[in-house]
Amino acid sequence: MNEAIQHKGWNSRWTFIMAATGSAVGLGNIWKFPYIAGENGGGAFVLVYLLCIAIVGVPILITEIILGRAGRSNPVNAMINHARASDVSKLWGLVGVMGVIAGLVIMSFYSVVAGWVLDYIFESAQGAFVDKDAAAIGQYFETTLLANKNLQLSWHTVFTLLTIAVVAAGVNKGLGNAVRILMPVLFVLLLVLLAYSYQYGDFSAGFHFLFDVDFSKLSGESVLTALGHAFFTLSLGMGAIMVYGSYMPDSASIPRTAFTVAFLDTMIALVAGMAIFPLVFANGIEPSSGPGLMFVSLPIAFSHMPGGAIFGSLFFILVGIAAWSSSISLIEPAIAWICENTKMARPVAAAIIGAIVWSGGTACIFIDGAFDGMDYLASNILLPLGGLSMAIFATWVMKRKIAKNQLKELSYGQFNLWYAVTRVFAPIGIIIVFLNAVGIFGLFA
Ligand code: TRP
Repeated sequence: MNEAIQHKGWNSRWTFIMAATGSAVGLGNIWKFPYIAGENGGGAFVLVYLLCIAIVGVPILITEIILGRAGRSNPVNAMINHARASDVSKLWGLVGVMGVIAGLVIMSFYSVVAGWVLDYIFESAQGAFVDKDAAAIGQYFETTLLANKNLQLSWHTVFTLLTIAVVAAGVNKGLGNAVRILMPVLFVLLLVLLAYSYQYGDFSAGFHFLFDVDFSKLSGESVLTALGHAFFTLSLGMGAIMVYGSYMPDSASIPRTAFTVAFLDTMIALVAGMAIFPLVFANGIEPSSGPGLMFVSLPIAFSHMPGGAIFGSLFFILVGIAAWSSSISLIEPAIAWICENTKMARPVAAAIIGAIVWSGGTACIFIDGAFDGMDYLASNILLPLGGLSMAIFATWVMKRKIAKNQLKELSYGQFNLWYAVTRVFAPIGIIIVFLNAVGIFGLFA
């Protein structure tokens, strides 16, 4: 309870928005969104993704902040406190436990990809991609980087240490200050890249690809991919937003905050897409080239342009910063859980969690299938299950009065709109994502 009062840095709505946006904006926006938009044919997929953000993402975002701020604790204790207050089983705390685990699983593979980003900052800066052809750069990614497991391990280690360093310093001092400086830098760098892309890329082709809606390109699978990504990109379903919500001052408006975060996150994804695709098209790169889109295609694009080494390096710095502020929120629930239930000092807890996720990432690098398995487990199973549980808990189990209290500024109609969507529509949406993930939903396969 006192945490929010003592932590002065959090006593402004803007700081919370910065922190939550720092969590939401990451590899999901800049690496994953463009490549899945490319794989799923562009415009129609983007439209469905935007609808998913608005109809499912924002209501659940509001829900998770409510659970956090009303619970005033880490996700596990918050859920247990809520369950006690509602006279239901403490087993609801398992939603928090699942979230803590999901965060560590995501952090494991996330920091491996972030490690690739760090490598690319230095490769680009040294001009490694300048004047190289497509084959040479593709080979760099596949053969030099992916096949060099020790190189990946080194960068993964560096990234894990960077994240642990911020978290060890504490949420206010470390995270609060970091996001306040890093987020505006991120925005500026993205706009610089967008301007560059506008000037040197095929902007019209990129724009049409992302915004021309052609429903014939859309499959049931694409719709579900869009819905699933709405969860991932908003950091929903594992308690990251719940922890941030627990530090949020009572005076701030949750719905306004949620809309702002979702808007900024969506803008970053769209601007990233609009910066990437004109470069992709101008250089004859396949938009559907998959997870390698950023790592293989962009350096090719940069290599063909004047000043490409600098802009390429700048871009990967941007992605690294975004990944950094996201990864902090992936492990903060675990750290908060430990610190609030034991006498352990924050730096010690950070070191332990750091060792766990470092091991997880190392497994992703060295064990075949571990990377994909962890991504699958977290993104397709744990997050939808977590989001579903939170929506159901907040609207079917928890006393309505608690949510009402957290959303005082809403009118009667506005509150009931949120309530109905979270109680009925959002759970149905999440169930569709979940059934698809476990393969039961054969209809859309
Ligand atoms: N949203 C981040 C991204 O788009 C990743 C992330 C951070 C996340 N914290 C999370 C995803 C919590 C799910 C849950 O890159």
